[in-house]
Amino acid sequence: MMDDNRLVLLRTRHKGKTKEFLAPVSNAPHHSEFGVTDLSVLLEDENLDAVTSHMGQEFSVVSPRSPDFFRHSKRTGAPMIPKDIGLIMAHAGVCSSDNVLEAGTGSGSLAIYLGFVAKRVLSYEVREEFTKVARNNIEKAGLSNVEVRCGDLVEALPSLSEEFDVIILDMGGSEKAVSGCFEKLKKGGFLVTYSPFLEQAAQIREEIDKLDFFDCRTYECFEREISFSSRGTRPSTIPVGHTGYLTFARK
Ligand SMILES: C[S@@+](CC[C@H](N)C(=O)[O-])C[C@H]1O[C@@H](n2cnc3c(N)ncnc32)[C@H](O)[C@@H]1O
Repeated sequence: MMDDNRLVLLRTRHKGKTKEFLAPVSNAPHHSEFGVTDLSVLLEDENLDAVTSHMGQEFSVVSPRSPDFFRHSKRTGAPMIPKDIGLIMAHAGVCSSDNVLEAGTGSGSLAIYLGFVAKRVLSYEVREEFTKVARNNIEKAGLSNVEVRCGDLVEALPSLSEEFDVIILDMGGSEKAVSGCFEKLKKGGFLVTYSPFLEQAAQIREEIDKLDFFDCRTYECFEREISFSSRGTRPSTIPVGHTGYLTFARK
């Protein structure tokens, strides 16, 4: 049987903890601390939901979803994290008919989430070595609707001949791209910017205020996990700290 390029999430329990691996479905065996696992059986039966390693460790087999690619993708820098991605999806109303533009791609974490929801995603990354990692991560996620172009978005904007429903900027110097993005945004579409510092968010808002956007809001999103143990229930003592400020402007 031929390899089918599909990735599966293998999950097992070991000493009270969950261990998981993203593995390609192929004739090549999967190696882990639990020994060798033959995944070629999944080529013969794609509905098989469990496999066992030669050491007798059983793995449950499921199809990976966006958060699995987020956890297991190779990183080139700070990826946007799910709490902020959730805010973007909700406030910009990203949907299945959307043509989305984003920059910078980074390792493609946001691009992958967007690719599972939107019709098409065009993503710009200025560093060539990062585009290679991102393209690889996106290909592994099985997404053919996400295109990564190597280049500076600010320079590329004037030459783009299409319009976008949503444009998302997560890069240094985003303020320089605001007016160019306004031109490429469909009426009713959203420009979203992510800034680690308030000063950058303020510069972006200054640029937004010069243009004919209808509405502009800036948010910071807090996420607190709750920990449950025999001692009691309380917020986790390992919180997610500050990430960034998200600004939404609607044309
Ligand atoms: C914080 S990372 C983006 C992370 C990405 N959103 C993710 O989820 O993985 C910022 C990226 O923007 C890229 N970048 C900076 N300026 C850029 C520009 N003018 N055009 C395109 N990419 C740019 C950087 O090289 C870097 O990879």
